[in-house]
Amino acid sequence: MMPFRLSPVSGSGLILFCLLLGAVQSSALELNLTNSNGTCLFAKWEMNFTIFYETTDKTFKNVTSSELPSVTYNGSSCGDDQNSAKIVLQFGSAVSWNVNFTKEASDYFIDSILLSYNTSDNTTFPGAVDKGSVAVESSQRFKIPLNDIFRCNSLLILNVSSVVQHYWDIHVQAFVQNGTVSKNEYVCEEDRFVTTVVPIIHTTVPSPTATPTPTPTPIPKVGNYSVTNGNTTCLLATMGLQLNITEEKVPFIFNINPTTTNFTGSCHPQTAQLRLNNSQIKYLDFIFAVKSENRFYLKEVNVSMLLANGSVFSVANNNLSFWDAPLGSSYMCNKEQVISVSTTFQINTFNLKVQPFNVTKGKYSTAQECSLDDDTILIPIIVGAGLSGLIIVIVIAYLIGRRKSYAGYQTL
Ligand SMILES: *[C@@H]1O[C@H](CO)[C@@H](O)[C@H](O)[C@H]1NC(C)=O
Ligand SMILES: *[C@@H]1O[C@H](CO)[C@@H](O)[C@H](O)[C@H]1NC(C)=O
Ligand SMILES: *[C@@H]1O[C@H](CO)[C@@H](O)[C@H](O)[C@H]1NC(C)=O
Ligand SMILES: *[C@@H]1O[C@H](CO)[C@@H](O)[C@H](O)[C@H]1NC(C)=O
Ligand SMILES: *[C@@H]1O[C@H](CO)[C@@H](O)[C@H](O)[C@H]1NC(C)=O
Ligand SMILES: *[C@@H]1O[C@H](CO)[C@@H](O)[C@H](O)[C@H]1NC(C)=O
Ligand SMILES: *[C@@H]1O[C@H](CO)[C@@H](O)[C@H](O)[C@H]1NC(C)=O
Ligand SMILES: *[C@@H]1O[C@H](CO)[C@@H](O)[C@H](O)[C@H]1NC(C)=O
Ligand SMILES: *[C@@H]1O[C@H](CO)[C@@H](O)[C@H](O)[C@H]1NC(C)=O
Ligand SMILES: *[C@@H]1O[C@H](CO)[C@@H](O)[C@H](O)[C@H]1NC(C)=O
Ligand SMILES: *[C@@H]1O[C@H](CO)[C@@H](O)[C@H](O)[C@H]1NC(C)=O
Ligand SMILES: *[C@@H]1O[C@H](CO)[C@@H](O)[C@H](O)[C@H]1NC(C)=O
Repeated sequence: MMPFRLSPVSGSGLILFCLLLGAVQSSALELNLTNSNGTCLFAKWEMNFTIFYETTDKTFKNVTSSELPSVTYNGSSCGDDQNSAKIVLQFGSAVSWNVNFTKEASDYFIDSILLSYNTSDNTTFPGAVDKGSVAVESSQRFKIPLNDIFRCNSLLILNVSSVVQHYWDIHVQAFVQNGTVSKNEYVCEEDRFVTTVVPIIHTTVPSPTATPTPTPTPIPKVGNYSVTNGNTTCLLATMGLQLNITEEKVPFIFNINPTTTNFTGSCHPQTAQLRLNNSQIKYLDFIFAVKSENRFYLKEVNVSMLLANGSVFSVANNNLSFWDAPLGSSYMCNKEQVISVSTTFQINTFNLKVQPFNVTKGKYSTAQECSLDDDTILIPIIVGAGLSGLIIVIVIAYLIGRRKSYAGYQTL
């Protein structure tokens, strides 16, 4: 049985055109909303979800989207300058799903996804403890330039409390400007950093084996992070972060996008913490400590994040020693630096500047630079080597000269 049976619906001035694709994966959805100008909202994606619920006999059961009644799109709308656009899905009477799109200046946003289910419905949730209507909101947010279509082929997993949602092969454009779906794709971060394998094409003529060329990983965007204590900024960090997870044979490289990443933290006299989180990273903590000799350093890194295969990856190490600098100064490293947290997890940092203690007036103090940046140390060596070479030449020349003149004296 097809899980999502869609029927064409027409509503107030809109032609709602819905299609079911998906002979292989019966989880494909398509929505093409039009107004007098043509298409105004287009979405085509695959998804499934599983809702876990508690039963009266104290066990947990689950309901997957494929077991739910056919979907309707009533309530979906294109939006305009005042109103957000939305896609509303209703799976029978017990489960609904919606996502809003908002427009700001020259961008639009895919806002959080809200999934609601009603445990009082005992045909959908047999044996459930009646908790009434439960809403689960995921906190992802994507920013897309107006007139671009958002594309994300990678599997995105939202694991929020009692619901696990899978999304893939997403193509969506809201606030379509001129009635035609754009050909400009705005590709999600997850797709951008997937290493592509060049397919080997078999031809009758023997050809040199095509070796897969992994696409070079782009350098992550530099983010500005800070922590405040009351009114005052007490921790500053500027850095591009790239996570490298090597649990599998192929390393998983993940660039942190500062625009979709939130940060918090805390400052104490002896320790300071910076915590980053986004839809995929539950937390990435950098914990700094003060050591004797009035210096600080990065002591601890803890991470917990969702991987593309649905598993949660967690690592903690409180015995690190990186970014060592005197209190009252900042630490800086423009070159790529590798923070090895565990055998399976490393962080590559780019254009790093960090000050976890003694921040005054919200500004960085003078920086102590990492040795990697220090090209200057080479110059004295080269100059020194050059100079000593020159001195040796002069001495030899002088000695030869002296011998010659001495010899000259003798012949006289
Ligand atoms: C939703 O769409 C279905 C199918 O077209 C229709 O029968 C139903 O009345 C609609 N419900 C609402 C609340 O508009
Ligand atoms: C959306 O529907 C309109 C009108 O039916 C059609 O002209 C257009 O090609 C459709 N767009 C896509 C991307 O399917
Ligand atoms: C159709 O396009 C015109 C010109 O861009 C615009 O002024 C008008 O508001 C559009 N109509 C709708 C229903 O979006
Ligand atoms: C949902 O889709 C994902 C990705 O295709 C798949 O791994 C998973 O088994 C599916 N889950 C259900 C409940 O169908
Ligand atoms: C969902 O429940 C079925 C039995 O009803 C069970 O076989 C399955 O493993 C459960 N799925 C998950 C993801 O726990
Ligand atoms: C979408 O917007 C409507 C109001 O327009 C609001 O009631 C709803 O909660 C929003 N949904 C999400 C997921 O933010
Ligand atoms: C659903 O609830 C009604 C009363 O609330 C009860 O009569 C019925 O047996 C229940 N059905 C199932 C399948 O539990
Ligand atoms: C609509 O806009 C897109 C992207 O800006 C452009 O590629 C396309 O040619 C435009 N189509 C029309 C009919 O103006
Ligand atoms: C924040 O600053 C305002 C004005 O600069 C001051 O009145 C207030 O007491 C400060 N609050 C804290 C918690 O430092
Ligand atoms: C990721 O880590 C592995 C194992 O430490 C290493 O071989 C690989 O070069 C790293 N990749 C990047 C981009 O840092
Ligand atoms: C980031 O912070 C904003 C504003 O506080 C919040 O709306 C959003 O849900 C947060 N995002 C994440 C991934 O926590
Ligand atoms: C840093 O701040 C601590 C108290 O927060 C202070 O005792 C110490 O003297 C400061 N050190 C420098 C070098 O500014």
